[in-house]
Amino acid sequence: MKWSLSLVAFYALVACEAKTQSVATHSELWQQGQVIFDMNCKSCHSMEDEKLTGPSLHRFRITMDGTEARQSIIEPSRDIVPGYTDIMPQDFGTRLTEGQMDALIFYLTNG
Ligand code: HEC
Repeated sequence: MKWSLSLVAFYALVACEAKTQSVATHSELWQQGQVIFDMNCKSCHSMEDEKLTGPSLHRFRITMDGTEARQSIIEPSRDIVPGYTDIMPQDFGTRLTEGQMDALIFYLTNG
């Protein structure tokens, strides 16, 4: 009896840990994305509704369109946002790893 109780307690603990861990990973991904954004994108883009050298990326937070965002980062010249010039660096697709790109997209689409 004593043994089975501690087994239950053990499983409850494992379940709890698994839960907190996934939450931590979630916010870690967001933070990682923010660091990448600050280092590579912030000089030209705002996450607020504000125009800099490049357009505000605020709308991706609202529409959550990660596919379109990813496309615009990998191939910036394919679709030029009206009113802007084609000066965005072309090499983010090779400069950022898959994992960094995923974190960045997560950050862009999750306010
Ligand atoms: C040297 C300035 C510059 C840097 C650095 C830069 N961009 Fe851009 N970006 C632009 C400009 C200018 C445009 C608008 C022209 C175009 O569409 O290519 C743009 C367009 C975009 C778009 C399309 C926006 C839309 O509304 O469709 C996305 C998404 C984007 N950039 C994301 C990023 C991300 C993420 C980074 C960092 C990894 C980054 N940019 C770095 C200048 C920059």
